[in-house]
Amino acid sequence: MISIIGSGKVGAAIAFLCISNSLDDVLLVNRTKSKAIGEALDISNAIPENSNVSIHGTDDFSKISGSDIVVITASTGIYLKNRIEMMDAQVKMIKEIANQIKKYCPFATVLIISNPLDVLTFVFQKETQLSRNKVIGIASSLDSSRFRYLLSEKFKIKQSQIINALVIGEHGDSMVPVFSRVKINEKNLLDIINETEKKIISTEIQDYWKFLRIFKSRSQFGIAKNTFDVIRSIIKNDELVIPASIVLNGEYDEKDISMGIPVKINKDGVKEIIEIKLNESESKLLKISAQTIRDYIKSL
Ligand code: LAC
Repeated sequence: MISIIGSGKVGAAIAFLCISNSLDDVLLVNRTKSKAIGEALDISNAIPENSNVSIHGTDDFSKISGSDIVVITASTGIYLKNRIEMMDAQVKMIKEIANQIKKYCPFATVLIISNPLDVLTFVFQKETQLSRNKVIGIASSLDSSRFRYLLSEKFKIKQSQIINALVIGEHGDSMVPVFSRVKINEKNLLDIINETEKKIISTEIQDYWKFLRIFKSRSQFGIAKNTFDVIRSIIKNDELVIPASIVLNGEYDEKDISMGIPVKINKDGVKEIIEIKLNESESKLLKISAQTIRDYIKSL
């Protein structure tokens, strides 16, 4: 069973993908019971014929018992300027959820979507003491999807012509697009863009969520699809390599933080952390990003 804590736009979209692809049973948990039930009733009609899956909504945490995967999308409010605005309230919330998960399904793999993503992933892992391989913050793959999309728009090409558009580091203003590894039609991206263009693209990736909010209240489908891919990889044991936030223990010379870096995912959660080669300026930016996360954690 997949339990999804928070049945807002993102939680509901993830549930819809899991159910319409018959991945597994889904339980939507929301403080407002009627919201969870309403989404479950609607998504129930997307269960494919001949499928064995079901979806239900509840406000009762004890029902997450036996979950294989728990996805946390809950939020205490809406941030406006940056993702750390509500950090204290979000940390309090994640600790409460951590206690429930420890109590009812201590063997689950937990995917964290709520912001500030890296801080919450770190706090959750420390609070539950679950193996760090089983606590995965999903966001850098969304940032990477945005990088790929922006490049395809800039060069007026299909996304399939772009290889290795990867964003690592904080899911926040210090995120690091790894320009040095991107190839477009087999050419190195760095050979075809200049410093100014690089800066513009980096800012566009960082601020993508703000731009989107001019038109729509919150991002929903991009994060839902990136999360679904991870759930699918775990349930089907189908290896997936993506950037995701995990508590570091010396990798990339960092520890005592969680940060987005490339990982290999399978049924066990994070099976392997992949250390990629970065150029000098990217390594420096990643250090700054790690320090930014560390400072947030220290300020708690
Ligand atoms: C965003 C949220 C999911 O980047 O953090 O859209």
